[in-house]
Amino acid sequence: MIDIQTFDNILINWYEDHKRDLPWRHTVDPYKIWLSEIILQQTRVVQGMSYYKAFVSKYPTVSELASATQDEVLTLWKGLGYYSRARNLHYTAQYIMEHHDGIFPTEYKEILALKGIGKYTAAAISSFAFKGVYPVVDGNVLRVITRLYGITDAIDTPMVIKRIYEISEQLIDSERPDIYNQAIMEFGALQCTAKSPDCMFCPFMESCEARIQGLIDEIPFKAKKIKRKSRYFHFIVLQDKKQTLLQRRESKDIWQGLYQFPLVEATHSNVLSLSQIKEESHIDLGSAKKVLKVSDVYSQKLTHRDIFARFYHLLVPDIQSVIKDGYNLVEQKKVSNFALPKVIDAYLGESIF
Ligand code: ADE
Repeated sequence: MIDIQTFDNILINWYEDHKRDLPWRHTVDPYKIWLSEIILQQTRVVQGMSYYKAFVSKYPTVSELASATQDEVLTLWKGLGYYSRARNLHYTAQYIMEHHDGIFPTEYKEILALKGIGKYTAAAISSFAFKGVYPVVDGNVLRVITRLYGITDAIDTPMVIKRIYEISEQLIDSERPDIYNQAIMEFGALQCTAKSPDCMFCPFMESCEARIQGLIDEIPFKAKKIKRKSRYFHFIVLQDKKQTLLQRRESKDIWQGLYQFPLVEATHSNVLSLSQIKEESHIDLGSAKKVLKVSDVYSQKLTHRDIFARFYHLLVPDIQSVIKDGYNLVEQKKVSNFALPKVIDAYLGESIF
């Protein structure tokens, strides 16, 4: 590898020539940087931009985010998925109001101690807002460094991650940690991409070990395959002429705080009969006369889970009598305004009522 000073200068020059003009790069407000980083963990830059603008505009400060209800925050997060990030944002805003007088902490250790903020996010906030000399290590950075150094070990092991951190701590420009961190991520996002990196026009073409050894397509190498589990959800769409029932998911399971139709979980996705639904649904469906419609199977991939869902429309003329604690009577046309799991949104997208 070339010497570190030269590396930093070339990288930062490359960045100045190629960087995208992104709204969160025009602020040193740690709150806004935090918002942008959490959103960008969930989506790509182009889609993240509109969410970032919506959050900053609705909640310009920690205090305004803290004063919102969880429902409001989850609704604005709608479409991004993985709602625990949004719940943590809200929780941490309230925590900052209570324990830091509403002022975002400035020290790396304090930032890292906040719920929902890991090593990567703490380094991003600390460096971008306060010029803290903490390197960011995300997927882009892992790729750039393993290629530059020709590291063929699997990157999903604690030992290799530790080594990448050690290298990053050497590489980071201590005078310009903010620009260095933006630059190395941008370099991974635009130049040293996962597929078809632009090696022909790479400023590190001569010194990149992966390119020299012809290993660009092999690095970064991943060992583990995560074990996936399947879950089978059967959603009961109760309806009279205008209304339906929604339930807020409260338990410490997936989709906490989101809304759903009453649910029967099964070990398969075969169509359930009306009597099976009545037995398993935990609500009184005595007056349900018939199943109007059964949907095809819809699926959603979560990090470690595959969700398979079917939707059963049941005609229940006296829907009022079905309500119990935790269930809300909702106008059918308003269902899509709620924060819903993606698989339900996908089904609603086909205008079901
Ligand atoms: N992805 C994560 N953080 C980013 C940032 N600050 N700029 C662009 N892309 C990012």
